[in-house]
Amino acid sequence: MKKLLAQELAPADPGFSADLIAWQKQHGRHQLPWQNTQDPYRIWLSEIMLQQTQVAAVIPYYQRFLENFADVQALAAAPLDEVMALWSGLGYYSRARNLHRCAQQVVAEHGGVFPADGEQLAALPGIGRSTAAAIAAFSYGMRAAILDGNVKRVFCRVFGIDGFPGEKRVENALWQRAESLMPQQDIESYTQGLMDLGATLCTRSKPQCVSCPLQARCVALASGRTAELPTRKPKKTVPEKSTVMLVVVHQGEVLLEQRPGHGIWGGLSSLPELSRMPSALLSETVSLHALEMALVEFGEIARFAVLPDFSHGFTHYKLQVKPVQVELLQRFNFVGQNNYQWVPLRGIANAALPAPVKKLLLALTAI
Ligand code: ADE
Ligand code: SF4
Repeated sequence: MKKLLAQELAPADPGFSADLIAWQKQHGRHQLPWQNTQDPYRIWLSEIMLQQTQVAAVIPYYQRFLENFADVQALAAAPLDEVMALWSGLGYYSRARNLHRCAQQVVAEHGGVFPADGEQLAALPGIGRSTAAAIAAFSYGMRAAILDGNVKRVFCRVFGIDGFPGEKRVENALWQRAESLMPQQDIESYTQGLMDLGATLCTRSKPQCVSCPLQARCVALASGRTAELPTRKPKKTVPEKSTVMLVVVHQGEVLLEQRPGHGIWGGLSSLPELSRMPSALLSETVSLHALEMALVEFGEIARFAVLPDFSHGFTHYKLQVKPVQVELLQRFNFVGQNNYQWVPLRGIANAALPAPVKKLLLALTAI
């Protein structure tokens, strides 16, 4: 049986493309420098520049490139450093290297003519599936589906698609939508309409739904979820650890412990932690008994107070700290504990301490 081509399938929802096309013709952008041409070289150049950069920033670069390299042959023949110099300031420089390689490949392998086929375009350096589709649609009127970040946002909102679009499962669902929604006619206005809607009305933070041609069919608008869709990238869950830090004070001095050279805060002085004390109790429940056991070699406790918890973020985990202030009635001399020392609280601002520990001590001494 003959394989059914995309061109032969009717769109799943013809109203969607009809409404979008009508809006694009009346309210969309028509005077961007890469519009009103079907020259694949110009369209390709603009699409590469627009991949990670806003229209306003692209325009002067686009114009300077065309002044220097009028066609794909000129670009292919130019030295790479000349291309890089003209790209300088646009960012994402692998785009410029791929641009140059792509031009050379189009000249060497396609006779200087960009292929009119999405798959062949997508095989060229720097051209992904969506960019290939945009070039094919704008240059050759081919029915090919785009799906860049803006289009993903529009689809997630209109169809109420949950889940982070960077996730494969969600992305596949979005590509299916993109393929099935394409109109039979006027792919250029439709494609431009998707781009224009995402850039001008259906923006990330404040979509202007009152002016939107898709408002009647928009699930996010109807359910008040425009702020939630598309679903944001899930935060990496970092493990949490917890510790009890002792602020042991006696006559204006605080007890500090030199930490071992390895591990977090390696080599720095810090507050003693209950679990690290010579006679640590297994449980970190803060009771007078637990404190007495931990501080048995350091002094006699007058009173203690549990201070408000705080947390500190490290790259690989979050540390939840419960500080406990302990006042000593009397202090014993250390026996074989030369990793501990008493340090005057006055002048603690200049001590080499971990930032959250210093902050805690400064807050205490300020009282
Ligand atoms: N972003 C990506 N392609 C675009 C185009 N052709 N016009 C406007 N913005 C775009
Ligand atoms: Fe975006 Fe609002 Fe239009 Fe829905 S109605 S597509 S949220 S602008």
